[in-house]
Amino acid sequence: MKVTRTVSDYEKWFQNKSAEASVGFVPTMGFLHRGHISLIEASKAENDFTVCSIFVNPIQFNNPEDLKNYPRNEVADLEMLEKAGCDVVFIPPYKEVYPKPVTISFAFPGLDDVMEGEHRPGHFNGVAVVVSRLFEIIRPNLAYFGKKDYQQWMIIDNMTHLKFPGITIKGMPIVREEDGLAMSSRNARLSKEEREIAPLLYEVLKRSRDLLVDFSPAEVCNHCKKMINNSGMLRTEYFTIADAHTLVPIEKITANQKPVAFVAAWLGNVRLIDNLELF
Ligand code: PAJ
Repeated sequence: MKVTRTVSDYEKWFQNKSAEASVGFVPTMGFLHRGHISLIEASKAENDFTVCSIFVNPIQFNNPEDLKNYPRNEVADLEMLEKAGCDVVFIPPYKEVYPKPVTISFAFPGLDDVMEGEHRPGHFNGVAVVVSRLFEIIRPNLAYFGKKDYQQWMIIDNMTHLKFPGITIKGMPIVREEDGLAMSSRNARLSKEEREIAPLLYEVLKRSRDLLVDFSPAEVCNHCKKMINNSGMLRTEYFTIADAHTLVPIEKITANQKPVAFVAAWLGNVRLIDNLELF
């Protein structure tokens, strides 16, 4: 596995490979777990080469404490990637990604002003800026994103259609712990007691599917928020049932609708998100 830390290092590797060889790309912020590795595996199955980037992107953190506490472990990450058969890792310092002050900005009306966009101002602009910069550097044919960050996947797909028509975006299933908790680098920051209650989020997401048979989406969301908050430890930021493509909250379920339940909740000082496709 080749480790590259500068754009010119990466460029050397890229120029050396045969022009027809396809590149699959998995952008990450490190502290890797099986969720990330599932994306590497998907890329390996579909491409000649797989490139993974590890870069904790400061401009997508709306909360300075979250950035400061974001877990990092480069040695373990490289070991996992090597074992998974990743071909190239790109681990740039800040200046390689942003040699000049960032002036470009993105807007995704409708997609970036609800849920994560509403509660984390500037977050998706920061994500779109870094992913677009990484696409320019890595020049992949396909890029892999987890549905764990469903809204991020949709926004990147949108941005890619407009700005990088040659790149195909793949949205991959959420990988969960045995007890149902969606894998996340931030889970490492949960105390033992918090970790025990955390799977409740997935339990409630599943419950929302059953409740929709008898209740309206708004009633289901209210009920689900209460179930989460009644744990005494989790505090719901939002619980929304929205359309899988537009992310517009659904008022009434109809036959051809594809509803997805989305949740964000605080557990201590860790913010967890999860979602479930209800169709
Ligand atoms: P990060 O949180 O490290 O996630 C990298 C990729 O792994 C994202 O596409 C994310 O959705 C996916 N992922 C995380 N947990 C997952 C799980 N349990 N199952 C499946 N996929 C999972 O998302 C980011 O980094 C950043 O915003 C990034 C896109 C790298 C831009 O900085």
